[in-house]
Amino acid sequence: MATYKIAVIPGDGIGPEVAAEAIKVAQAAAKKYGCKLELTYFNWGGDHYLATGELLPEDALDQLKKFDAMYLGAIGHPKVKTGVLEKGILLNLRFGLDQYINLRPVKLYPGVWTPLKDKGPKDIDFVVVRENTESLYVGIGGFFKKGTPDEVAIQEMVATRKGVERAVRYAFEFCRKNGRKKVTLCDKSNVLTYAHDLWQRVFWEVGEEYPALEKDHAHVDAITMWMVKNPEWFDVIVTDNMLGDIITDLGAMIQGGMGIAAGANLNPEGLSMFEPIHGSAPKYAGLNKANPLAAIASAGLMMENLGEKKAGDAIEQAIIKALGEGHIKTLSAGGEKSTSEIGDLISEFVSE
Ligand code: IPM
Ligand code: MN
Repeated sequence: MATYKIAVIPGDGIGPEVAAEAIKVAQAAAKKYGCKLELTYFNWGGDHYLATGELLPEDALDQLKKFDAMYLGAIGHPKVKTGVLEKGILLNLRFGLDQYINLRPVKLYPGVWTPLKDKGPKDIDFVVVRENTESLYVGIGGFFKKGTPDEVAIQEMVATRKGVERAVRYAFEFCRKNGRKKVTLCDKSNVLTYAHDLWQRVFWEVGEEYPALEKDHAHVDAITMWMVKNPEWFDVIVTDNMLGDIITDLGAMIQGGMGIAAGANLNPEGLSMFEPIHGSAPKYAGLNKANPLAAIASAGLMMENLGEKKAGDAIEQAIIKALGEGHIKTLSAGGEKSTSEIGDLISEFVSE
């Protein structure tokens, strides 16, 4: 029996609650499809930082490299200054493990309310391939004359040939392997005439290797417009880290909200980390009210990525059944079912 070592970082706020349900469901799927998950928990996050001053231990990456996958609940604490945990934990893990793809499916499941009028599950079904290690996220820049009227603040956007090419290539391969048809490049090449010029050149060049796939391009501002007006135009969107961050929050909303939006930080050659797109939602922490479906769907992506496709599919099908049959009426926190009741229900459907 295949055994997978999973590093679980429950994190802050609602992270531990939703991660617990995601792991519960993953265990049910593992049991049913004949594999084993061996879990090791890491208490990194806001509370650990406040208690010890440590964000990640020095050997964190070495410790993690022994695992087959990582599962993360959420990072973010109201008592810690914005940016400290995000950079010190989340981005350090993504960058340190070179998880260069952030894969974010935008899929409206049957029975889920979308704010888009006259759009249904057949219209909203695409995947965003967000580059996950470059762009404005690299943290290169600084202040000059900080705090004075002459202050200068600089934050550099970085695009490398290697980084762009591996993201673009991943998007085309993903499209081909998953029976999808079209890859759309989302950039701002009309203004970012260096960084996104590179994206343009790489996209069309690599695209030539995929004659069977349709290629398209739209600037990010137009993309946000079309995602609302004609989401059915999109199949696979490839984009840089900053733009991908922004458009996937919009994507989450059109698929029903943060309560359902799953994500994966992938290093296709190494260790990947699975996490819902939503944050730690401190106001719901500890109340058993948060919706764990996004976390559960991310665990489904983890199983699929471990090579347990049947287990991954079963998790998605269980979510579809729960929503489609009206067992879960709202994706917002505080619905009629508690966090753990939703986890129990999905586990039960997975085990059937
Ligand atoms: C996300 C989040 C992170 C990001 C933050 C918390 C650093 O918004 O996963 O989308 O910007 O990537
Ligand atoms: Mn984000």
